[in-house]
Order: sequence, then structure tokens, then C-alpha cells
Amino acid sequence: MYRNHTCGELRIAHLNQEVLLSGWVQSSRNLGGMTFIDLRDRYGITQIVFNMEDDEQLCMSARKLGREYVIQINGIVKERSSKNANRPTGDIEIQAQKLTILNASQVPPFTIEDESDGGDELRMKYRYLDIRRNPVKEKILFRHNVALETRKYLSSLDFTEIETPYLIKSTPEGARDFVVPSRMNQGQFYALPQSPQTFKQILMVAGMDRYFQIVRCFRDEDLRADRQPEFTQIDCEMAFVEREDILNTFEGLMKHLFQSILHVNLPDFQRMSYDDALKDYGIDKPDLRFDMKIKHLTEDLKAHGFPVFDSAELVCGIICKGIADSYSNKDINEITDWVKRPQIDAKGLVYIKYNLDGSIKSSVGKFYSDEFLQNLGKKLEVEPGDMLLILAGGYDKTVKQAGELRLEMGRRMKLIKEGEFKAFWVVDFPLLEWDEDSQRFFAMHHPFTSPLPQDLHKLNSTDRDVLKSIRAAAYDMVINGAEVGGGSIRIHDRALQSQNFKLLGFSEEEAEAQFGFLLGAFEYGAPPHGGIAFGLDRVCAIMQGSTSIRDYIAFPKNNQGRDTMIDGPSPLDQKQLDELGIALRSNEAK
Ligand code: AMO
Repeated sequence: MYRNHTCGELRIAHLNQEVLLSGWVQSSRNLGGMTFIDLRDRYGITQIVFNMEDDEQLCMSARKLGREYVIQINGIVKERSSKNANRPTGDIEIQAQKLTILNASQVPPFTIEDESDGGDELRMKYRYLDIRRNPVKEKILFRHNVALETRKYLSSLDFTEIETPYLIKSTPEGARDFVVPSRMNQGQFYALPQSPQTFKQILMVAGMDRYFQIVRCFRDEDLRADRQPEFTQIDCEMAFVEREDILNTFEGLMKHLFQSILHVNLPDFQRMSYDDALKDYGIDKPDLRFDMKIKHLTEDLKAHGFPVFDSAELVCGIICKGIADSYSNKDINEITDWVKRPQIDAKGLVYIKYNLDGSIKSSVGKFYSDEFLQNLGKKLEVEPGDMLLILAGGYDKTVKQAGELRLEMGRRMKLIKEGEFKAFWVVDFPLLEWDEDSQRFFAMHHPFTSPLPQDLHKLNSTDRDVLKSIRAAAYDMVINGAEVGGGSIRIHDRALQSQNFKLLGFSEEEAEAQFGFLLGAFEYGAPPHGGIAFGLDRVCAIMQGSTSIRDYIAFPKNNQGRDTMIDGPSPLDQKQLDELGIALRSNEAK
């Protein structure tokens, strides 16, 4: 037997009991006649004390223990004379009677403390040591709870967890596929699924009614803090549902997760149309933890002789409350430089300060009289002390820039309260997105998404603007400015699906070759259906107020898509390549 208690569970109630503990040496301190060891396992830390007077040899062995040695201790639970109120086991210590070294350890390359001295790359290379640290371990345990509560909630609603294959067929839609060569079918490749989309639809045709799966998805796309090449979805599909059923069911899931894990009651989710989200916040996933809607000012500010505004398709701005008097010229210059950075790419930034004393200061004062600006202020319900920041240019670009500026000012003005959650639905996305480079439409969500019934008649149009205006029965769940999930009501009619493929530029043969199995299934009684998928890693990060999903993944990839612990990806040896029938050009083999 290695242990009869964990390092996190002993309390005063266990006084004088003989116990057996196993764990890692967190630290040791020698104080003359006494040696103290902090013994750690997943559950906590318990202090072990070795007394020179009781057993000199034992105490000397304890002094030789290095950090991260794995040891076993037999001892008696004693009350501590100086208690540690910060530790659940802080009232007791174990008076050691026997020490067994189960395994030695090299000196770890970084400290196994909450605040480690190890950099990111080093900690990733030694991820097993990193996971011993509380902040990382706790995130992994948190993720387990989110997955567990998800399974409980969905199972209670009759959803069945069904596994779908990982070796599937490559399709050109969406992100780039990761591919796997087939040894038995040389020259042919499987693709790893970007999501189980078509399989879950087929399961609806198969009559499974309510499906879910906590499933790994693979996308070969550029990495960011909220994106990993392999990530996990809570993937769901339901038959015989309308959009409303899905929104209610999964609003319920999110409320359950927040309630059961964080004890936070999320209020009913607001619904916002995609068009309104873009118009008011310049982004399809607005952060609603602070107000500051974008004000559209084109009509107000045009035709007053200021060439930049006169020639702009859109003039719009944000009202920054209460900072007019304190925002210095240096601050204005800084935020102007910020919007001019290539990532935002604005030409400039105009300000109008409505000072507390009623005076107005503006970078465009020459073109607009004080009276005019006062009236504009009244119309916008500006209060003394408020500052208006204005951008101008082409519509799409400028409204997005205003959205970025809004977020940045929200951050700079510290308008985002810690621990607050604003969850809502964005609905009525466009069905199609025009791509200038390839001169074709792409599906904004995916090709299986149904148009809204009221827009179905537009599908036959040849006018690009009419096609662009078709709305989809698609929805995203947004929390604190992050898209945590997205889905849609699907097309379940073969003819409509074929028509949609045609709009997306597929010839009949291409549609048949790539999605023939789905089109075929639609001929055998496909029920109306729809679904959604959440990014599990993202849900976890958002719930804990983190912007990086990496910590919620036990073994994540770095920014180059590498796992530095196992040093993958790696070249294959010639024998393996030959078996797969893959010939590499010599300079690519490295
Ligand atoms: P979508 O592509 O919107 O929809 O993905 C659903 C959710 O998955 C998460 N996500 C990611 N998380 C981490 N890293 C990534 N690279 C990554 N990509 C996506 C996001 C996103 O909201 N089959 C459809 C769903 C459906 O229609 O039912 C789909 O995959 O949180």
C-alpha cells in the first residue's frame, strides 16, 4: 500500500492517527534539530516534520531529499504549534516515523510554484512538471467539471453521446484539413475532421433524435490565443426542432454550467441580429460588458467643408464618458497612433471634447462652429466631460475600426468589470459571403446551413446584392466578446441542398463527389434538424476570465503548431514513407 490518505485531507480531527502518505517533495527546510518537508500531491500539501532528537538517522535521510523526489511517509498526525491559516492542512503536521524514497528526481528546470520562474517554452517542454503547478492543474480539473456537467445536462435531456470517425474525407470548404496518408489505398488520404458536421446530420437521418459528443476537431489554420490546431467541441444536433428550440436548449446548457460550477446565475440571453451587431459594435461578437455603442454620424458631419468627412462613405464615432478634461494631448496622440497601426489601419482620428465647463475643444474646430458641435452633442445626448472620437472612410472597414477602437477605449478606461459575464445570441447571419479574390460566394457558416424561410425566394436571384442579403438560420453564442459556440438549422431537403451547393460554385459532379453520401441520405426521410457546437476550451477560458485556451488543454501546441514535449511533428523514416507510397523531394524531407 502506498498511502491511506492524500496530502490534502488531514485535519485536527485526525490527531494522533497513524497515517501513510505518498507524494512529491515541494520544499524542505532544515532548522537545526528539525527538518520540515512540504509533501505535495494533486490534493494539497502536508507538512512533515523530522526531529533529530527522535531519530537522528531518519532526520539525516530527510535532509538529503531533493525537490520533486517521490517519497512515502509513515507518521503520526500532530497539532502544529505555529499554524498556517492559508493551507487547509495548516493546523496539523506529520511526525515522521519512516521515510521511503520511491523515486529520485533531477533538479526541475523551473520552480513548481504558483508563480513559476519558467518561461512558456520551457514549461511546455516539461509539461508534466508544469501540470504539477496549482494554476495549471486547477484549470485541467475545471475543464473536467465543465465536461462532466455538460454530459449530465445533455443526458438529462435525452441526448446520446455517439462517437464519429476521426479518419474521414477531405473537403475543400472551411479551414485547411490535416491529412493522413492511407497505406492500404496508396496515393489516397484521409482527413481529420474539422468538426463532425455531416456525421451528426446523418445521425439525425438515422433517427437518433438528439446527439452530442465531446469531440476533438482538427483545423490547419493560423494559431492565436483562442485557437489551437486540435481543439474540443461540445458538438450537438437535434431533430424536429426550430431555431427557438435550439437557442432555448443551449442557453439552458450555458446557464447550467455557470450555475453548477461558478454559482453564477446568467440572466436570459438577449438576441441581437448580425446587422445590428455590426452597426452598433463593428463586430459580430461584441463585448457587452460595457456600453459605448458606435454612433453613425455621416449625415451630421458631411458637407461642412472637411474633406476627410465629405469624401467618406461612413463617419462614425464613440462617446467616451467623463474623460474630456483629463485626456491630455499626449493621450490623444497615443490613441491616434494606435488606430493608425497596420492592424487597425485608420488614416486618423478626430476628437471633440465637451469639457466640464461647457467649452468645446476639437481637432476639427475649424470646420464646425461651437454652436454646431453643441447641437450635435445634444442630439447624441453627450454630457459635460464626455469626449467623442470619430473615424471616417469606407463603410465596412471604418465600422470595424470603430469596433476595435471601442474595445481599446473600454480597456484603457477600465470599463470592463472583472468577474462579470454578458452572454447573448447573435442571430440572422448572412448565408453567403462574397470573396473578391476568388470571385465566388462562400458559406458564412457552412454549406449545410438553411436560409431563413422568409429569404428562401431570393435563392433564385442572379443579383449579387440580393444573394448577399439572404439571411441564414444561423446563430452564435457570444460571451464577453468571444464566440463560444455557433450553429444553424440545416437544410434537410435534397433539392435545396443542391441549389445551395450550386450557389457556392460546386458543379453537380463536385457536389456529388464530395457530399453524395449526405445528399443520398436526404432522399431517405431526413427529418428537419439543427444543432450547434461549442468550443469546450473556449468555454472554460471564458468562464475563468482567461483569454488563452492553451492552459485548459493538457498538452497544447505552440504558435508554430509544435508539441515541444514530444517534438512533433517530425520527419518519417524512408521505410515508413515507402510503405505509404510517399516520395518526398529531398530538400523537403528535413
Ligand atoms: P464552428 O466552426 O463555428 O462551427 O465551431 C464551433 C465552435 O468551436 C470553437 N472553435 C475553436 N476553438 C479553438 N480552436 C479553434 N481553432 C476553433 N475553431 C472553432 C469556437 C466555435 O464557436 N460544425 C459547426 C457547428 C454547427 O453548425 O453545429 C462548427 O464547427 O468556440
